[in-house]
Amino acid sequence: MTTRRNFIKTSGVIAGSTLINPLWGAQNMRPLTNTGNKLKIALVGTGSRGCSMWGRDLVRRYPDQLQFVGLCDINPGRLETAREIIGVNCPTYTDFDKMMKETRPQLLIVTTVDSTHHEFIVKGMESGADVLTEKPMTTDEIKIQAIMDAEKRTGKKCRVTFNYRYSPHRAKMWELLRNGEIGDLTSVDFHWYLDTSHGADYFRRWHRLVEKSGSLWVHKASHHFDLLNWWIDSDPETVFGLGSLDFYGNNGSYRAENCRACPHTEKCNFYWDVTRNEYYKKIYVDNEKHDGYLRDGCVFKNDINIFDKMAASIRYKNGVQVSYSLTAYSPYEGYRIAFNGTKGRIDAWIQESKPVNDVDYDQIILFKNFSKRQYINVPHGTSGHGGGDDLLRDQIFLPGISDPLQQCAGTRDGALACLVGIAARNSIATGEPVKIADLTSIKPQEKKTYQRL
Ligand SMILES: NC(=O)c1ccc[n+]([C@@H]2O[C@H](COP(=O)([O-])OP(=O)(O)OC[C@H]3O[C@@H](n4cnc5c(N)ncnc54)[C@H](O)[C@@H]3O)[C@@H](O)[C@H]2O)c1
Repeated sequence: MTTRRNFIKTSGVIAGSTLINPLWGAQNMRPLTNTGNKLKIALVGTGSRGCSMWGRDLVRRYPDQLQFVGLCDINPGRLETAREIIGVNCPTYTDFDKMMKETRPQLLIVTTVDSTHHEFIVKGMESGADVLTEKPMTTDEIKIQAIMDAEKRTGKKCRVTFNYRYSPHRAKMWELLRNGEIGDLTSVDFHWYLDTSHGADYFRRWHRLVEKSGSLWVHKASHHFDLLNWWIDSDPETVFGLGSLDFYGNNGSYRAENCRACPHTEKCNFYWDVTRNEYYKKIYVDNEKHDGYLRDGCVFKNDINIFDKMAASIRYKNGVQVSYSLTAYSPYEGYRIAFNGTKGRIDAWIQESKPVNDVDYDQIILFKNFSKRQYINVPHGTSGHGGGDDLLRDQIFLPGISDPLQQCAGTRDGALACLVGIAARNSIATGEPVKIADLTSIKPQEKKTYQRL
């Protein structure tokens, strides 16, 4: 575990208040509501992410800073399993309103199915808590507006946990762009590949339904659109999208409800025995009896209604153009990105699975016009998402950490990341480009607004 002393030594963090104010205390050091006791946290959605990244890991990493006062989920079995995995003895609830009323948390963490986030974000702020929500902030424009309105009405804040911003190589790209290494940025080529393992997993789970995940345009690509918004430092203005389902779903020649009930396991490349994963067995399989949710759903089920091949052209308010694509059935996982500028280009091919060279760094190539290439090797971090997960959590829960790379994201950032995918979805439905300004009250700005939470 990282001790505070080690952390300060390795990160150069400024020693600050010993009190904690998650979400924003680190940046403006405004007076804290916490009176020196541990921060009171409630969490809704005790699935995989809630149990690990925002549950067990918080309890282990920040024992002196925070305390769980309530856990909530609609699956009572998973809720009890979660209490054990997280390692707490706080009360558990299947009724969210009751939890908020009885436990009065200072911070609510939202890690439920994407389409339900808005409900808890809004109610959480209305009951007096600040909110930390997993991405995507929500799944459609009406829910975005409800969140923005609730934040304004209540004066509470909601932080969106865009962990992708914290990966060291992506932070390096941001620094190179901000330092003007390639002059003025004019366009970005960004192509993301999900493989037949992790990518296929989206088609096994609730993510396969647009009404739960908003589709991969929102569930997955909101990570990528947030990175683009942050890197480009401007707001997206117009989106034209294309997409189709070419590989999973009804494209398969056989199917079943789920892998355990499947008669085709011998020939199916996607056969997966969920019971061999102890963690998944514990949180999902052992609790199926409560809600019927199958973690090992068939990737060729006919009800799959999201795309597995997507492309978008995005124009930013500052004139930058983006060519984006997402393919969900690639042999390897990773992405290729190029930033084109008036004085050069930044290139990277990040291979997250099956890398060609097994090295412990990510390489960025900085190529200035009329000059030689420079290779910049950024070492991998040690926690999830290239080391980004720990950096994000430390910034939230350890006092006195500043935000020099503007990685902290509020509701405006959360909304704009979702809005690009929502606009692409709407564009596919109509065949027309969609203006971001037509979707909610957010008006795109030439220079991105940095939300000092
Ligand atoms: N940032 C990242 O890299 C990252 C990675 C994984 C997941 N996530 C996000 O975390 C969230 C959770 O994902 P997960 O993989 O843990 O999913 P999961 O299916 O394991 O967990 C979701 C939980 O929410 C519960 N739930 C659903 N509707 C509810 C409701 N109305 N009230 C209370 N509980 C409800 C389910 O019972 C389940 O326990 C999602 O929003 C996902 O996008 C983010």
